[in-house]
Amino acid sequence: MEIKSGFTFWNLVFLLMVSCVKGFIYTCGGTLKGLNGTIESPGFPYGYPNGANCTWVIIAEERNRIQIVFQSFALEEEYDYLSLYDGHPHPANFRTRLTGFHLPPPVTSTKSVFSLRLTSDFAVSAHGFKVYYEELQSSSCGNPGVPPKGILYGQRFDVGDKIRYSCVTGYILDGHSQLTCIASSVNTASWDFPVPICRAEDACGGTMRGSSGIISSPNFPNEYHNNADCTWTIVAEPGDTISLIFTDFQMEEKYDYLEIEGSEPPTIGLSGMNIPPPVISNKNWLRLHFVTDSNHRYRGFSAHYQGTFKEINFNWACIS
Ligand SMILES: *[C@@H]1O[C@H](CO)[C@@H](O)[C@H](O)[C@H]1NC(C)=O
Ligand SMILES: *[C@@H]1O[C@H](CO)[C@@H](O)[C@H](O)[C@H]1NC(C)=O
Repeated sequence: MEIKSGFTFWNLVFLLMVSCVKGFIYTCGGTLKGLNGTIESPGFPYGYPNGANCTWVIIAEERNRIQIVFQSFALEEEYDYLSLYDGHPHPANFRTRLTGFHLPPPVTSTKSVFSLRLTSDFAVSAHGFKVYYEELQSSSCGNPGVPPKGILYGQRFDVGDKIRYSCVTGYILDGHSQLTCIASSVNTASWDFPVPICRAEDACGGTMRGSSGIISSPNFPNEYHNNADCTWTIVAEPGDTISLIFTDFQMEEKYDYLEIEGSEPPTIGLSGMNIPPPVISNKNWLRLHFVTDSNHRYRGFSAHYQGTFKEINFNWACIS
């Protein structure tokens, strides 16, 4: 009984403390101009305050874009977030919300404004983050970053420059090992292929090329195995897009899933027993990540992919 009432007392004290600090919001941030610089969360690296709501808006010269490269990143997972906005911090410009302890890849804005917003809850903090930002001229592709277990060769990222990737021993490179910075649409430059990934030699997946083909989960149409972690990269020529059409789909709801990167929204999570609608890529690549847990197995998925050429789209537009 005594212990029980003790708990109740401390629970009450805790609740009071929480509600007292709840009204306190720590604001910080600001507007940043200039060719380059760094942003650190308040108190970095000794921990950011609770109840933080800090917004940084980076403004580049018109026609330039902004690239941010993370140098350090640690936020209390699932409670504290760094939200990225491709423009001013309005919901319409929201891109992604970062949390946890993995260093995120570099991000490039599509126009001359980019915003970051740190929000933390009312308990527990972590080191925080440090990010380097830089204005990109229209002739620069920016640093595309290094994938885990990967090595990047090359330090120049302007139109015409080539860079190369390899993987450390025990890992296979999926995707293209060489990237070229090309002048894409009006006044921008971009890499011709996505950054490759380094896949453990014994992990399933692979790189799919060619105008069409089929991707299926391991053992399809028999049951997939437990604890699977497969990654496939589908690449088409620069300027083309890829459509992925599912013909079969059976997975343990929520626990086994297929994640698709490279379309709109940037990441799609699929699970369950219904055949999902087709997925169309934004650019010339799609990445599929298939993950299963340690029990329950089903048939998995099978999908047909097909490259769509820009020229064909253009002709259709002319006819109609
Ligand atoms: C900005 O760029 C200049 C020239 O490349 C460099 O010397 C300087 O250290 C950079 N500033 C920051 C904050 O990294
Ligand atoms: C943070 O501040 C912005 C503007 O000052 C506000 O719109 C937003 O709702 C706040 N976010 C949180 C989580 O309090």
